[in-house]
Amino acid sequence: MLRIIELAAADPEFAACFAIRLAVFVQEQNVPLAEERDEYDADALHFLAFSGKTPAGTARVIFKDGGRTAKITRVAVLAAMRGQGIGAALMNAIDCSRRMDDVNAFVLDAQVHALAFYESLGYTTQGGIFMEAGIPHRRMSKSKTPR
Ligand code: COA
Repeated sequence: MLRIIELAAADPEFAACFAIRLAVFVQEQNVPLAEERDEYDADALHFLAFSGKTPAGTARVIFKDGGRTAKITRVAVLAAMRGQGIGAALMNAIDCSRRMDDVNAFVLDAQVHALAFYESLGYTTQGGIFMEAGIPHRRMSKSKTPR
């Protein structure tokens, strides 16, 4: 069974979010550790997906423009748990969160290999490819009607 919780960096479950980010971005994708943990963690809203009792995926939302824009970052599912809908469920949990009530746009910088994943969730690309942490990315966005 899949369960998704929302939390802050000060909550004990944040350790599981960060452990997933370390496994996926630092160990698997060779992102430097110094770039992985940044100044945005403290104020961000974090999401953690459990498959049964096992932490399986995470994502982070940074609010911008006075809370009107939600920037989604650090979307990661453990390699062994991919292809089961956990990534899509995390993105849907962000969409449905009460913390997004005042949001009118979602933005994210997608790794190019994951463009189709985000397109399947309604995101469209903007602009060209740019490099971040040595990985090619493209800006994507999706509009939302504030509740
Ligand atoms: N490329 C293309 N399509 C992909 C994809 C990829 N890398 N990953 C998933 N999809 C598709 C799936 O086929 C599925 O389509 P379907 O609904 O038609 O079957 C849909 O997207 C949802 O897949 P899901 O099982 O929910 O995704 P996931 O749990 O495997 O998580 C990622 C997707 C991208 C989060 C995961 O592959 C991951 O953590 N990758 C490494 C970290 C990363 O690159 N994160 C993105 C940073 S921008």
